[in-house]
Amino acid sequence: MLRFDIITIFPDFFGSVFDYGIVKRARAAGLIEIGVHDLRRWTSDRHRTVDDRPFGGGDGMVMKPEPIFAAVEELTGARSSRELPEGTRVILLSPQGRQLTQRIAAELAANAQRLIVICGRYEGVDERVAQALATDELSIGDYVLSGGEPAAVILVDAVTRLLPGALGSETSATHESFSAGVLDHPHYTRPADFRGMRVPEVLLSGHHARIASWRRKEALRKTLRNRPDLLARAPLSEEDRRLLEE
Ligand code: ADE
Repeated sequence: MLRFDIITIFPDFFGSVFDYGIVKRARAAGLIEIGVHDLRRWTSDRHRTVDDRPFGGGDGMVMKPEPIFAAVEELTGARSSRELPEGTRVILLSPQGRQLTQRIAAELAANAQRLIVICGRYEGVDERVAQALATDELSIGDYVLSGGEPAAVILVDAVTRLLPGALGSETSATHESFSAGVLDHPHYTRPADFRGMRVPEVLLSGHHARIASWRRKEALRKTLRNRPDLLARAPLSEEDRRLLEE
């Protein structure tokens, strides 16, 4: 069982977003639990203040450390990352984090029992959260969102589908995009001719070895075209290099 606790100033944002597909099934099957917590619950002033002006000046507001530390302390008993129970990770979502990858999602799915997810807002979060409370600062990509909430949804989805049993027996995450450092191959279904666009003949041939070879070639080609950065690091066989030359 993996429990997610999402700390946010917009708890309503999450509405029914976790009630679909694999995440819904994983919840129903007891593989995961998701708690959403309003950060303002851990404020003590009349205005329930969660942000303040930046030391050193500048635009925008910064999220205050006190409510965030109080929230994590109530949820985990820990006053800092060093006191967290084994298997509990505190994830700060921010554009300054390490980029979330399939490898990191798999590592979390394999090792974590509890993920406390902090959604930042405003121009940033007081750095003492990243320094002393979070075990991981993660970004979902090189673009700036108006807050960590959409990133939290993505983190929950990417990690949940990698939990044993989440995908069901018919599918597995081991053969898909990124697991081997290369993008997935193209997929086709009926009709074989759609508005004159024909499904590649080899897929209709029933020749399994040729189909496998075609899929590998197309996966490599698409990776070369769309993600040359991935291909440069992918472990390629002699056969892969030959397919790319074709
Ligand atoms: N908050 C704002 N932008 C973000 C990003 N790219 N990833 C994670 N959290 C964010």
